[in-house]
Amino acid sequence: MCGIVGAVAQRDVAEILVEGLRRLEYRGYDSAGLAIVETRSDGASQLKRLRELGKVQALADALNVQPLTGGTGIAHTRWATHGEPSQRNAHPHVSGDIVVVHNGIIENHESLRAQLQAKGYHFSSDTDTEVIAHLVHYHRQHTDSLLSALQATLKELRGAYGTVLMDARDPERLVVARSGSPLVIGLGVGENFIASDQLALLPVTRRFLYLEEGDVAEVTRREVRIFDAQGGSVERAELQSDVTHDAGDKGEYRHHMLKEIHEQPKAITDTLEGRITDSGVVVEAFGNSARGIFEKVEHIQLIACGTSYHAGMVARYWFEALAGVSCDIEIASEFRYRKSVVRPNSLLITLSQSGETADTLAALRVAKDIGFMSSLAVCNVASSSLVRESDLAFMTRAGAEIGVASTKAFTTQLAALLMLVMAIGRCRNTMTVETELELVQALRALPGHLAETLSLAGEIEMLAEDFAEKQHSLFLGRGEQYPIAMEGALKLKEISYIHAEAYAAGELKHGPLALIDAEMPIIVVAPNNDLLEKLKSNVEEVRARGGLLYVFADQEADFNSAANMKVIQVPHVPAAIAPIVYTLPLQLLSYYVALIKGTDVDQPRNLAKSVTVE
Ligand code: M6R
Repeated sequence: MCGIVGAVAQRDVAEILVEGLRRLEYRGYDSAGLAIVETRSDGASQLKRLRELGKVQALADALNVQPLTGGTGIAHTRWATHGEPSQRNAHPHVSGDIVVVHNGIIENHESLRAQLQAKGYHFSSDTDTEVIAHLVHYHRQHTDSLLSALQATLKELRGAYGTVLMDARDPERLVVARSGSPLVIGLGVGENFIASDQLALLPVTRRFLYLEEGDVAEVTRREVRIFDAQGGSVERAELQSDVTHDAGDKGEYRHHMLKEIHEQPKAITDTLEGRITDSGVVVEAFGNSARGIFEKVEHIQLIACGTSYHAGMVARYWFEALAGVSCDIEIASEFRYRKSVVRPNSLLITLSQSGETADTLAALRVAKDIGFMSSLAVCNVASSSLVRESDLAFMTRAGAEIGVASTKAFTTQLAALLMLVMAIGRCRNTMTVETELELVQALRALPGHLAETLSLAGEIEMLAEDFAEKQHSLFLGRGEQYPIAMEGALKLKEISYIHAEAYAAGELKHGPLALIDAEMPIIVVAPNNDLLEKLKSNVEEVRARGGLLYVFADQEADFNSAANMKVIQVPHVPAAIAPIVYTLPLQLLSYYVALIKGTDVDQPRNLAKSVTVE
């Protein structure tokens, strides 16, 4: 899952490419590079390439020292799949005059590499991508255009790709192909662009053509020609973007993550706007055909990855307890390769911040073939593949989330899912009017509760000092707080690199209790709900064995600090919204622990914001 930018223009494009890469760093940031075709004063063209290990800034610094001029170029920010992060593995890769950048995985790269080596091609990187460069170079000698060479190459590739190529001998042309990795063409006046995400191109255009699966295109300054998987010429609708992007703006905050944690009251307010009224949820907010679909739903299958999966786990409790509809949740990477039995009138719900997560998208595509009644995407990016390929879509409206560790995307997903539970309960007549109105009230009060909870930041910052030297930690919760414990553990490991595991507190005695000693911090989420007394017993089991407890407890839950137990009082809130509220202290804890440890909070090692490879 790398970021790609390309430009064909009459002006110098280096700065446009680098700015585009900066905006795509959420897709990977282990190395970056660009290649530009310079036209010399004698009319001859010359290929220039610059690649640097590390973030896009390293490439920008190198360009300051060694400026590149020229109107056609391609650039790339990498998240390594094949070959370690290094300058030699950084894109673009070159074969003679052919230059390529690629996002995805070429699964048959080993056999292709052997065939190309037998033909005399020399490989200078460990990447799968280099086979594309050599294959296109090979086919270019037997075809009449770069486009035909690419089309011949694609017939030999197995795997996923978004790829852009140029030929230094034909410098005013880019060719691109999309299969499994997103690509968008940006339309300018006398210039055109390509990127993995429209965000990269917002400084230069607002007009976009989204390539569809299997599309191949040729882009020049004046023309865009698109062909579908069968090679037929096709038109793709031009879309005008109204997206705003404030990636550079951390405001008063030290990190995007901290800013995004504090944005949650406002983000949830946006999620709710126009979707609930005094009489309940607005079913039409899920789409014009939503009512008809929801009335028929007999089963729900939720699919997601990572943090979005945790949101789905919470929703499973809600769907069954509040809307009386059976519900399963599965990790997308498992679902996509499993033979599953689809129950009658099943609704598939995918959850994703980015809407470009490869496993989730693949799961949606599998689901379409095996008999789901309909599909609904709960997503934060309106222009994403997931939204475009689903029957219904419901936007979470979290705003741009830049920190790799997901925060406001998660809590807005939960708010969106609670409204969805209400809508389905209403349409199936399985939720009483009283329950729906109680939920409306709870949701309306939610931004206020979140703001109040954020005022615990100072106390949590002090608590974080206890964790800085720890190697391991356990998170405990029960019921719908179990996924919240999982999300807390994911946050801590993701940005502080401390090993963290989550358990349903009732499961502790079946094994993990053996881990408890004075070195193991145990974080407990304890709202005042039906399971409070059960949870208290689990806490006592830990205390009796000398465990070191940190309990985030409802003010009215009668938890008091004692030897080996610190209690952080969380505002009392209705049970239904407690999972959303209790997420915030755990986000803050992981943030402040990471701060003490001095990790790269917004871009933790080895990760990327959007995982567009499987
Ligand atoms: O964009 P998505 O919600 O589909 O992403 C899924 C996961 O990759 C993502 O939630 C990941 O787990 C986050 N980095 C967690 O903070």
